Amino acid sequence: MTEPARNRVLGIETSCDDTGVAIYDSEQGLLAHVLYSQIETHKQYGGVVPELAARDHIRKVIPLVDAVLNKADCAKESITGVAYTCGPGLAGALLAGSAVAKGLAFAWGVPAIGVHHMEGHMLAPMLEERAPEFPFVALLVSGGHTLLAQVESVGKYTILGQTLDDAVGEAFDKTAKILGLGYPGGPAVAKAAERGDPNRFTFPRPMINRPGMEFSFSGLKTAALNIAQKTELDQQAIADIACAFQEAAVDTLVFKCKRALVHTKSKRLVVAGGVGANLRLREQLKTMTEQVAGELFFPRIEFCTDNGAMIALAGSKRLHQATPDLAFQVKPRWSLEDLAPV
Ligand code: KG4
Ligand code: ZN
Repeated sequence: MTEPARNRVLGIETSCDDTGVAIYDSEQGLLAHVLYSQIETHKQYGGVVPELAARDHIRKVIPLVDAVLNKADCAKESITGVAYTCGPGLAGALLAGSAVAKGLAFAWGVPAIGVHHMEGHMLAPMLEERAPEFPFVALLVSGGHTLLAQVESVGKYTILGQTLDDAVGEAFDKTAKILGLGYPGGPAVAKAAERGDPNRFTFPRPMINRPGMEFSFSGLKTAALNIAQKTELDQQAIADIACAFQEAAVDTLVFKCKRALVHTKSKRLVVAGGVGANLRLREQLKTMTEQVAGELFFPRIEFCTDNGAMIALAGSKRLHQATPDLAFQVKPRWSLEDLAPV
């Protein structure tokens, strides 16, 4: 195995509706990061419109590259590699970032490396001062994924369980829509839940009576729909449904995380991905890990959701695996278990 040499990587994230660009130095850590959120573009449609996402990325990537070089106060000549998200995600959005990354790498005479978006999320806690050591159990919770993985080292992942239907972020987004809370749904549901009564409505705790570490979240969304149809949706009812939904989603995640720690005899739990920004989830996971004398690690809130910093970091770990050719291929579907170890 070759050890990565010192490097300074520009990372570009364009898998969905955030354009993120960052610079990570293997010795100095994160030098700077910038983010452009497309929320305003997609808001009027109630969700992400893939074509608009791709076009917005094309408009924003280069200005953000200039901005991040400026912010980090570093010359482009000091960049030794360019990392980009090549999957999973929206094909057009991925293509936008990949093409710019490959073009920049060619122009600068440095290698380019395609990064797995979920590996980026999983390594994001390593951007923090209190970074987890390997091995650990990772809970990845985003708009497209919900899975528990055993992580031995960078690239050595065993999936312990994943969702059989909707991702938990997707369930938050759909519940937000049902309640008229709009897009992006997760933060809106969490905000409404703050004023809610968790006991007025009853939601199921899917899969907790079954062995294993699989999840299922489509039933929670259906429960939200059924309750919403039978209830007059005033502000209090919306808050109460949001709160009971969030409690059920969080309980289920915490339950399976505890099982994963016991199953793997691990003490370290890492939480990453957009739903990792949910404060109730963070609080409940903290309580659970304390009960089992374990340790909980998560990225700061802004590095839970999509960002360039996690892609620059993952790219820095994998830069030595870059190939010199100009070809690139995006992978809208791509399993974490298919990654090569570092
Ligand atoms: O990781 P991410 O930014 O993008 C994907 O890779 O999917 O995750 C986005 C997901 C969305 O479903 C969003 O509603 C959810 O994360 N999310 C939240 C919160 N912030 C973002 N869900 C619950 N509570 C939050 N505070
Ligand atoms: Zn993501």
